[in-house]
Amino acid sequence: MQLSASTLSRMHAILGRVDEDSVLAKRMAELQALESELRDALDGDVHAWVNTIPGTAQEAVRNLYDAGGKRLRPVLSLLCGGAAGGQPRAALPVAAAVELLHTGTLLHDDIVDEGDIRRGRPTARRVWGNALAVLAGDFCYFAALDALLDHGDHEILKRAMAVARALSEGELIQLQRRGSVSFDGEQAYFDIIDRKTASLMAFATWGGSRCAGGDDATNAALDTFGRQLGLAFQVVDDILDFAGDPAVFGKALGQDVVEGTVTLPLTYALELEPSLQSDVRVLIETFHRDRGGDQRDDIRNEEVPDASDIVERVRNSGALERSRETAAQLTSEAIEALQSVPESPYRRGLTLLGASLLDRVS
Ligand code: IPE
Ligand code: IPE
Ligand code: MG
Ligand code: MG
Repeated sequence: MQLSASTLSRMHAILGRVDEDSVLAKRMAELQALESELRDALDGDVHAWVNTIPGTAQEAVRNLYDAGGKRLRPVLSLLCGGAAGGQPRAALPVAAAVELLHTGTLLHDDIVDEGDIRRGRPTARRVWGNALAVLAGDFCYFAALDALLDHGDHEILKRAMAVARALSEGELIQLQRRGSVSFDGEQAYFDIIDRKTASLMAFATWGGSRCAGGDDATNAALDTFGRQLGLAFQVVDDILDFAGDPAVFGKALGQDVVEGTVTLPLTYALELEPSLQSDVRVLIETFHRDRGGDQRDDIRNEEVPDASDIVERVRNSGALERSRETAAQLTSEAIEALQSVPESPYRRGLTLLGASLLDRVS
């Protein structure tokens, strides 16, 4: 993991102090070596489950998994296992399960969002069609639950079931909000992302800790860490939808607004520049009408605004800067939760990893 100057300076702000760069570099190199060994172990576990998927669905899942991705959730689980005082390896069952759950949500999400590009490749639904992508995603969910059943901790399995439900709820609530263009503010947005993103991230951190033998207080602290970091992470992803570099982001930009997903940057932009409201409404309603859902005549003759023009106006509205401040606040709440976890190189790794996520929108 490379740390940029801005991460280091932000760490100064968050922690009030930072180690000498040389000490920090040595610790990061150690963590990096550990991380690569653990990543190999993770790949082995996940591939073992992927190999059990029948036919072409296996090809679809393997193609997505092998395309890479940041592996953020499993890395968090493993670091949390170490931070809880156990062996990071002990957290592998949760690490493999969270990445499998994540893979399932991506397969399904790209159907719901009509995503064309994922991890720089054409999405499974584009290559193999919706039916196969749905079933491949289902299989990932069941493999994840199976992996946890094998591990045998009933509390972890119970929590995984609640997370699977929360992921579906988040996507369902978001879907139902779409197209109706109700600009119902920040709270509605956070209710959705708490379910669709933060619930899984919190499971990754809490579960990694518990799996490695963490005590209740440490498990709870890492739960809060994952939850707040998950919220920050989704805010960052939603900023990148307006301002990312598609080659790095691995997905097309501007998808959210066209689809009618009112994310935090758009919520802020609509407040900061109310003149955007009517154009966003027409754009979204036209999209849904053209897709065949809505046949209203009253929007037929209105001039349809250009999506790239709306993206540009959001970028110029100050909304992305404000969203970044919100993400920074959530990140410092996450890092604050680590204070009650005993000091260790793993805890330090979690702090660094948490702080570095904001670099994506620096
Ligand atoms: C994408 O997650 C879905 C969101 C929660 C925004 P990631 O950005 O972690 O996706 P990969 O695994 O790195 O591709
Ligand atoms: C992320 O939602 C959460 C899930 C994938 C469940 P997004 O729709 O923002 O994710 P991307 O941007 O397609 O990765
Ligand atoms: Mg999506
Ligand atoms: Mg997104």
